[in-house]
Amino acid sequence: MTHPAIEALLKEERVFPPPDSFRRQANVREESVYEEAAKDRLKFWEKFAAELHWFKPWKQTLDWNLPHAKWFVGGRTNLSFNCLDRHLIRGRGDKKAILWEGEPGDQRSLTYAELHREVARFANALRSLGIRRGDRVTLYMPMVPELAVAMLSCARIGAAHSVVFGGFSAEALRDRINDSQSKLVVTADGGWRRGSVIPLKANVDEALSGAPTVEGVIVFKRMDGKVPMKGGRDLWWEEALKGQGDSSPAEELESEEMLYLLYTSGTTGKPKGIVHTTGGYMVGCYATTKWIFDLKEEDCFWCSADIGWVTGHSYVVYGPLLNGATTLMYEGAPDHPEGDRFWKIIEKYRVSVFYTAPTAIRAFMKWGDQLPKGRDLSSLRLLGSVGEPINPEAWIWYHEIIGGGRCPIVDTWWQTETGHILISPLPGITTLKPGSATRPFPGIEAEVVNDQGELSESGYLVIRSPWPGMLRGIYGDPKRYQEIYWSRIPGVYFTGDGCKRDRDGYFWLLGRVDDVLKVSGHRLSTMEIESALVDHPGVAEAAAIGKHHEIKENAIVAFVTLKSGVAGSPQMEAELKEHVAKKIGAIARPDHILFAAELPKTRSGKIMRRLLRDIAEGRVLGDTTTLADATIVQSLKEKYEDKEG
Ligand code: WT7
Repeated sequence: MTHPAIEALLKEERVFPPPDSFRRQANVREESVYEEAAKDRLKFWEKFAAELHWFKPWKQTLDWNLPHAKWFVGGRTNLSFNCLDRHLIRGRGDKKAILWEGEPGDQRSLTYAELHREVARFANALRSLGIRRGDRVTLYMPMVPELAVAMLSCARIGAAHSVVFGGFSAEALRDRINDSQSKLVVTADGGWRRGSVIPLKANVDEALSGAPTVEGVIVFKRMDGKVPMKGGRDLWWEEALKGQGDSSPAEELESEEMLYLLYTSGTTGKPKGIVHTTGGYMVGCYATTKWIFDLKEEDCFWCSADIGWVTGHSYVVYGPLLNGATTLMYEGAPDHPEGDRFWKIIEKYRVSVFYTAPTAIRAFMKWGDQLPKGRDLSSLRLLGSVGEPINPEAWIWYHEIIGGGRCPIVDTWWQTETGHILISPLPGITTLKPGSATRPFPGIEAEVVNDQGELSESGYLVIRSPWPGMLRGIYGDPKRYQEIYWSRIPGVYFTGDGCKRDRDGYFWLLGRVDDVLKVSGHRLSTMEIESALVDHPGVAEAAAIGKHHEIKENAIVAFVTLKSGVAGSPQMEAELKEHVAKKIGAIARPDHILFAAELPKTRSGKIMRRLLRDIAEGRVLGDTTTLADATIVQSLKEKYEDKEG
């Protein structure tokens, strides 16, 4: 875990108390909220739950039978109703719900009343196609309002959505469709990314050649509609909506009914379908959005994450809409056509709360201060960061250059599994330290423990008690759920993150302690990359590791042993990179491939990734005494240095 940026981070001494002007207007101003929540955690969450609509009140706030949590047991509710109808009933139908900008510059907006109508019609379309409560629907779409419409429509009728990021390949899509046994896929004829069209429909066609559960495909027309449509299976979005009425009763769902599945990478070659349910997730998203992003009636909230990731689920769609806020969606890349696209969007829509990732911030820094300085960013009042530790340099740049020195920054720690933010400042209360996610949200019992599960200044981040939005399991694999999250340190939730606490009790996240990598904010498993490599007929063995990268956090380095008779040529290198992109998606394409006659192994045959990391980072080799053959690693090191300089 030695990492130059993090070393610097741990020496960070600067502090930033909330500016008075911010504190005065903040939704949360009293430090006592922490104590009150700690005294009675359940009561803390009940208060938020009571601000939302329940068709039938819950009987028991929490039923905890480790590792199985049920929240708001006996209650009946509906996320779509709470995101839409609740605001209409209160006369807020004319408020803008979604502001959208496409990459080519096209614009649309939907009020709560308009979004409600679209959702009702699409929900009716789903029903008329035979989609029922309990079914799964895969959404493979660009960042267009229809993706939010499809999610809210699934939620309305009680079908679980499984959003697959548009950057995943046809094969990755097929695996996810099959694991979830989806009956329907909703896609588009394409989406814009950096001036090119992502061939979503073509990928769906390829994926469906081996996906027997899928009965139909709905295709949203984002491009010119010139894609092949398969008779009896494929239907245009507009056709599906034809004749559908604009009222559609929301199903009264049990609190613990599945809301969605979202696949994420773990430490094996197979992604896990993380299960989130209705009532608890709703309350967690609502509460954290309200308190951490300090939302007000006049705010324009922009979370720049793709809806294909959990950040987009919780803080582009559900959290802001539950709060009746205006959420902004942008379809494309931050550097299209130029590197000031985000700042132009903030200026144009008067964005007041902006939430993005450190990897993006580091890219902006590299593109130069003149880009944001050329735009009016005075509408901003609060900034957020998520996805990986933010290095103090990036924090300070974000604070000064984007926030004009006046906006607090909420560095929010959470995971696909946690559903919503668990560790974060409260912007009206918390004194910030650049690089620290500061402290757990009220009601969250986070701790740092050692291997024995004892409290420790540095070690593993664990969560001691259940929280409303926590995952309820891994789809179809209860054993793995128990093993991965609840067995490493018995009785507590194991996050997989290393963490330190300072003398003020602040949490400093140190990155993953397992084989999960963050590459430009995308979560990947080294095992998944290795499986993709050995799937190539020329490859005998492969080991993938992360190497520190200035902007992406990690670059992927793969060490590959080829089968005898196969040459380690530059063509082979290119072919293998392409192979991984085809198996998983371009986000997983290795940055470097090194061919090795043999990989360094222990006498029991385990590949020593630690030594491979030393080689890739250009470090002095660590302990090699347990190696079966110590000469392998030395020659590999020389070869790597020759090649990568
Ligand atoms: C992993 C979860 C949470 C939404 C986006 C990522 C890392 C996340 C922070 C932060 C340090 C962070 C952790 C975590 N991470 N936020 N503020 N500081 N690290 O969700 O793809 O499931 O990844 O992201 O390592 O375990 P995800």
